[in-house]
Amino acid sequence: MSNSAIILAAGAGTRMKSAKPKVAHEILGKPLVSYVIEAAQKAGVSDLVAVVGHGREQVEPLVSDACRVVVQDRQLGTADAVARCRDALAGATGSVLVLSGDCPLITPETLSNLVYAREGANAAVVVLSMRPDNPFGYGRIMRESSGDFTRIVEQKDCTDEEASIGECNAGFYCFDAQVLFQALDQVSSDNAQGEFYLTDVIEIARNAGRTVLALEAPDADECLGVNSRSQLAQATKIMQQRINQRHMAEGVTMTDPDLVWIGPDVSIERDVELLPLTFLLGDTQVGEGTVVGPNTRLTDVTVGRDCVIDETVALESVIEDGVNCGPRAYIRPQTHVCRNAKVGTHVEIKKSTIGEGSKVPHLSYIGDTTMGAGVNIGAGSITCNYDGVNKWPTTIGDNAFVGSDTMMVAPVNVGSDVLVAAGSVITDDVPDRAMALGRARQVNKPEYKERRRKKEQAAKKAAGEQ
Ligand code: UD1
Ligand code: CA
Repeated sequence: MSNSAIILAAGAGTRMKSAKPKVAHEILGKPLVSYVIEAAQKAGVSDLVAVVGHGREQVEPLVSDACRVVVQDRQLGTADAVARCRDALAGATGSVLVLSGDCPLITPETLSNLVYAREGANAAVVVLSMRPDNPFGYGRIMRESSGDFTRIVEQKDCTDEEASIGECNAGFYCFDAQVLFQALDQVSSDNAQGEFYLTDVIEIARNAGRTVLALEAPDADECLGVNSRSQLAQATKIMQQRINQRHMAEGVTMTDPDLVWIGPDVSIERDVELLPLTFLLGDTQVGEGTVVGPNTRLTDVTVGRDCVIDETVALESVIEDGVNCGPRAYIRPQTHVCRNAKVGTHVEIKKSTIGEGSKVPHLSYIGDTTMGAGVNIGAGSITCNYDGVNKWPTTIGDNAFVGSDTMMVAPVNVGSDVLVAAGSVITDDVPDRAMALGRARQVNKPEYKERRRKKEQAAKKAAGEQ
């Protein structure tokens, strides 16, 4: 397999009309350029060099874990971008892949095929070609009447006749490393855009007597370049379908796969059911038999088996087996919901542990709390964790029963087997097995209505006598 690949990611992407560089735009929560990097890694490429330039402070952090980074200060064209890698790849021999950072749908299989084709034919270069529905904007593949590939002509340099050719350059190449860097010296910017075109290397190599090949991609979708918001939406749709098909093939049910969005790194066990308007993003995992949705977003969440996650937003949290969430639960980062617990309706949990079998069923806010097992939190109860300056913790022991509408003013400890009377404001620790009552005493005024009637009658009479 090819040892090195160059990923072109220095362009501005003006057609995106964005403050963000093009390759940093995301599909299902992952930047465009990361998809290309992963395809290369899965194809077995061990040395990756990314060319960054425009918006490099935003692009560099996205690539620097996986790639060596080369800077192209001015975007003088794709040939110039590749030429910047000369030092980084000094002494490289054999195959070098050159990949467009803005084509996220490329597959590892296609990249491997480019390398096999080049090495099999000892070609100077193999170009991936495609036949898109609308070839406008792409470089065209020129062939002789014999069918031999000769060169690429960019859209802006095409004659009308050339522009009518449907076979296009997909923007993926496998080069013979030595030929590549020699030929780059001969590329000029004498063309309609005044740029140094990488595609000119093909004609240069051919004129030097080397073989050049164009290998057609099995599926033009794979080569879709993202240059505009519309193409971003198109690529998102294709990726969504690709990912959903994969999970369905592995035993996941989706009522309507058009209404389920799953990030590329999500893992889902079989017999999971995904209802409409479900988003599973980032590093999310869902265990066997769990039902998610409708209307649910889970980002970086681990969900166990046999849970019901209904109309829930959860972030960076762990939800163990048999948990019931929602409808309308909001689970914020660093929350751990233990086995068989319940986080119910209009409930917000932040940075807390909800112990095994504990229930927070209705209208509660629980923050910075460590809760034991078998706890019941009555409707409307809240941990008051913020005094306007600092956040404070609450602990609630096993089997505590906290009556409805209780305010637990942190820092405070509610012991185990405790009973807290409804409507209490708990400001002091409650010892284990105690009952706590922290509310104003009720006053009943007997026969109040009758007494008031008499009082009013007397007042009227007095007024009439005046
Ligand atoms: C390029 C090809 C075209 C092909 C198309 C496929 C050339 C001259 N043309 O055109 O034949 O059909 O891709 O999508 O190569 N970049 C840099 N530095 C630069 C210029 C570009 O890093 O100076 C990067 C861009 O960020 C992008 C890639 O190279 O990732 C391709 O550049 P782009 O401007 O999108 O080229 P196209 O006009 O699409
Ligand atoms: Ca492009």
